[in-house]
Amino acid sequence: MFGNRLRKNAKHLSKWGKRRGISCYRLYERDIQEYPYIVDFYEGRVHLQSLSGEIPDGIVPEISRALELPLESIHCKQRGGQKEGQYLGTGKEGDDFVVSEGGNQFIVNLDAYLDTGLFLDHRNMRKMIGERAFGKRFLNLFAYTGSFSVYAAKGGAISTTTVDLSNTYLDWAKRNFVLNGMDLNKNILIRSDVKKFLEEWKGEYDLIVLDPPTFSNSKKMEGNFDVQRDHVSMIEACMRLLAPGGALYFSNNLRSFRLDEEALSGYEFSEISAQTVPEDFRNRKIHRSWVFTSR
Ligand SMILES: C[S@@+](CC[C@H](N)C(=O)[O-])C[C@H]1O[C@@H](n2cnc3c(N)ncnc32)[C@H](O)[C@@H]1O
Repeated sequence: MFGNRLRKNAKHLSKWGKRRGISCYRLYERDIQEYPYIVDFYEGRVHLQSLSGEIPDGIVPEISRALELPLESIHCKQRGGQKEGQYLGTGKEGDDFVVSEGGNQFIVNLDAYLDTGLFLDHRNMRKMIGERAFGKRFLNLFAYTGSFSVYAAKGGAISTTTVDLSNTYLDWAKRNFVLNGMDLNKNILIRSDVKKFLEEWKGEYDLIVLDPPTFSNSKKMEGNFDVQRDHVSMIEACMRLLAPGGALYFSNNLRSFRLDEEALSGYEFSEISAQTVPEDFRNRKIHRSWVFTSR
């Protein structure tokens, strides 16, 4: 049953992807209850996540047969029980390889970390940022591997500022910048806790992306970050850095998230999740997103 569903999805989604120039997509997402997996396709390789924490014998060969791919191209992760360790290493090195999306190139690694370097659920939002970036000063907060910054720079941003707490991911972002021929003088990388950055930085931006994790806690920051608790103060701080006529794109993946609309009623904002969650995601609540503009 699982194999047949995969085959059917692959047939449909590869055509769908070809028409749109998309070569990395979500192939399977718990479509059948008894098979609680997420299967993402990255240009001929497969990232398999088991939500139950187990991958029974036979599943990987079944995927290999259904998709007509060698066993080595199927990379497994067992997510069950992992909560806050999302950015930790898995102990494996894996291979870095390059995928294209929207005319840009991104380095992906399906083994080294729990995440791959390119979050597929933000594909539409990356495109939006690329389309809106021309002539703008762009700020990317909680930037991970810098994919929003790549789109912004390629879309004609005058400058991009990419902020993350992790040296590993900033280094990955830099490699993505070099891969895409970006000028490292105009596209700067800053290692900082976003909260601290927002308190101290004196820049002005026309376009900001704020895409925080649900929760973060690190020796490199003071206290911790909780998106539900901290989103209002963080959005307010971003709005202070926004030039007149500018826009802030805010998103997060916390399923139970509630935007404090009352506290934020001084701004114009609207939810854009229906446009930003890609068609290949069955879970329409994979993230929620809003655009804020100053009144
Ligand atoms: C959910 S990912 C962001 C995804 C990214 N916006 C994208 O679409 O590719 C979380 C990132 O936030 C970073 N991070 C976590 N806590 C942070 C903090 N307090 N300040 C800055 N970056 C932080 C992590 O290092 C990681 O790269």
